[in-house]
Amino acid sequence: MYNSKILGLGKYLPENKVTNKDLEKIMDTSDEWIQERTGIQERRHIVKGSDDTTSSMGVKASKIAIERAGISPQDIDLILFATLSPDYYFPGSGVLVQEALQIPDCPAMDIRMQCSGFIYALATADQFIKTGMYKKVLVIGSEYHSGGLDMTTRGRNISVIFGDGAGAAVVSRAENNEKGILNTQLHSEGKHAKELSLIGPNTGRWVPEIMEENNPEDSSYYPYMNGQFVFKNAVVRFSQVISAGLEKAGWKPDEIDMLIPHQANLRISQFVQKKFGLRDDQVYNNIQRYGNTTAASIPIALTEAWEEGRIKEGSKVVLAAFGSGFTWGSVVIKW
Ligand code: UT7
Repeated sequence: MYNSKILGLGKYLPENKVTNKDLEKIMDTSDEWIQERTGIQERRHIVKGSDDTTSSMGVKASKIAIERAGISPQDIDLILFATLSPDYYFPGSGVLVQEALQIPDCPAMDIRMQCSGFIYALATADQFIKTGMYKKVLVIGSEYHSGGLDMTTRGRNISVIFGDGAGAAVVSRAENNEKGILNTQLHSEGKHAKELSLIGPNTGRWVPEIMEENNPEDSSYYPYMNGQFVFKNAVVRFSQVISAGLEKAGWKPDEIDMLIPHQANLRISQFVQKKFGLRDDQVYNNIQRYGNTTAASIPIALTEAWEEGRIKEGSKVVLAAFGSGFTWGSVVIKW
């Protein structure tokens, strides 16, 4: 059995910044409300008509990750693409990345685990590397939210939160089993599936019916979130899954060099920080600048933390996520 490690990281954010003040102009919200409840100051939104898509952002992030890993796209033998906003209903976005990067025949798998998508994808990559089945796995988290949000006051509890962007990692075999990914924790609880969901277009609702209804009042085409319920579950599950990862690694909280929580809400990150008694420099947050980019939030934050030199050889890193499903998980890494 081999340990796996992250060999290269990359990120891509669309240039277009949307500030809270911009949102004040189109819906009944305020900079004050958004900052106080979520910590968000601005997020990136793809401009309508631009060339950016979920897969193309993933490709841009991947190119950087592959170059930093010192390999070529042809060395990739598995692609894992985490998203809740794929380019198409089908096929998945993984095959589009494969084609764009000219990666020869290899499995390209989409992971549909929402905010926990990157954690699930990393855990999957780790398992395939452990067994020796694959050697270079490209793991991507990418989201294009802005085209599917209700940007009226009706959708304000969701639409002020989400942003677009992508992050990617090349995962390969570690030199020894003392470093790399030490353990992964994955969970889901389907009884809360509808508490954070988008149920409008589905296989039980036939397309001709939907077209006939043509009902602008129908909000089921937009994401729905029972905010307070999700929040309460998030703080509990984040804490549990971080504790489980630390315990398995035999680490105490004060040994963590960098905790990267999924960027759901700054208040959730602060709650978790306080719970584990962590200093500010032990936790990475960038939700202030990018909003919540679901499956992309951890790889974007991880890339930034690494670019800033806050993660280096030997660093003890913990990644953790919670989101729709409900799903939650963590990955513990000795860099
Ligand atoms: O990434 C996946 C996991 N996601 C999460 O973990 C998110 C969890 N939930 C949250 O982060 C928070 O619940 C929200 C940020 C979504 C909402 O914050 P909240 O403190 O739970 O607010 P609330 O939903 O209880 O709403 C409080 C008030 C309501 O008005 P009334 O009924 O008190 O008059 C809302 O209508 O705030 C109102 N409101 C807004 N006001 C201004 C909701 N959204 C907005 C808004 N601007 N954008």
